[in-house]
Amino acid sequence: MTNFSLLKPTGHLTLGNYLGALRPMRETAQRHGADSYYGIADLHALTVPHDPAALRELVPEMATLLLAVGLEPATLFVQSHVPAHSELSYLLECVASTGELNRMIQFKEKGRGVPTTRASLFTYPALMAADILLYRAEKVPVGEDQRQHVELARDLALRFNHTYGPVFTVPEIATPPAGARVMDLQDPTTKMGKSHASGAGIVYLLDRPDVVRRKVARAVTDSDTGPAALRRDREAKAGVTNLIDILEACGGTAEGLSTYGALKAAVADAVVAELEPLQKRYDDLARDPAAVTAVYAAGAERCRATTAPVLAAARNAIGLG
Ligand code: TRP
Repeated sequence: MTNFSLLKPTGHLTLGNYLGALRPMRETAQRHGADSYYGIADLHALTVPHDPAALRELVPEMATLLLAVGLEPATLFVQSHVPAHSELSYLLECVASTGELNRMIQFKEKGRGVPTTRASLFTYPALMAADILLYRAEKVPVGEDQRQHVELARDLALRFNHTYGPVFTVPEIATPPAGARVMDLQDPTTKMGKSHASGAGIVYLLDRPDVVRRKVARAVTDSDTGPAALRRDREAKAGVTNLIDILEACGGTAEGLSTYGALKAAVADAVVAELEPLQKRYDDLARDPAAVTAVYAAGAERCRATTAPVLAAARNAIGLG
């Protein structure tokens, strides 16, 4: 079984990405080795207004971080280094209808009806379907926000197979291995995303200890007091609940703590301890960017070999010589 996922380089990776996705991915990668494929979806990052210089820096940073996390037993690649992704995407645009693309929730929320919306935001799900179908992925672990796109990938695979011949494996949506759900420290009812209005509630993976401590110290809690205040209640005490979740996800416990000050100190210590080895590996790897580039070059080559027969079969079935 191929394990498979792509990450969009639209911002610096966060503690939320790490505890929610990257750490579980590492466990999978270490079990499945090169048969897991993890990609950086740089083409997807072009679907909204972007800054070329920022993208040029974010991709190698993300690439180095994925290595620092320990994903390397998997095949690591950058989407645009494997041209089959854009080629198959075009063929799938010729199978998808404007009606179904127009119904995609992400498109509706991020740009439908706005004349300056990039055309690529509209066709985004065809590219994502190409990502998935090229690797004959049977199960695709995605969060809620991406379910509809994987459903579309299923529909396109079925339609293509039915119309032009059996080329694609029809993927299923899998529930990703449970990772911690980390919320924004300043706004604990929203996910700790890569891009929140302000970074004050976001711990980035490369935030150094003093920055982590400052952000945790300023985390929103509530005005309850006494030992009974230190408990989980996602509705009424979202901030405190989030801090306890982070603490436990980083191997600590809130038991025996009696003040929010003590809780925050414990969270800061646990997060710093979790991030330190990762940052050390990142710093070591960043000293030798050519070695990182080589890992991704080998990954892209493996991907080109894996995907070539699938693309060739699709071209052939649809009538291209
Ligand atoms: N669209 C996904 C996101 O925004 C990233 C992505 C691109 C992806 N291609 C994929 C995820 C293929 C899973 C499989 O998070």
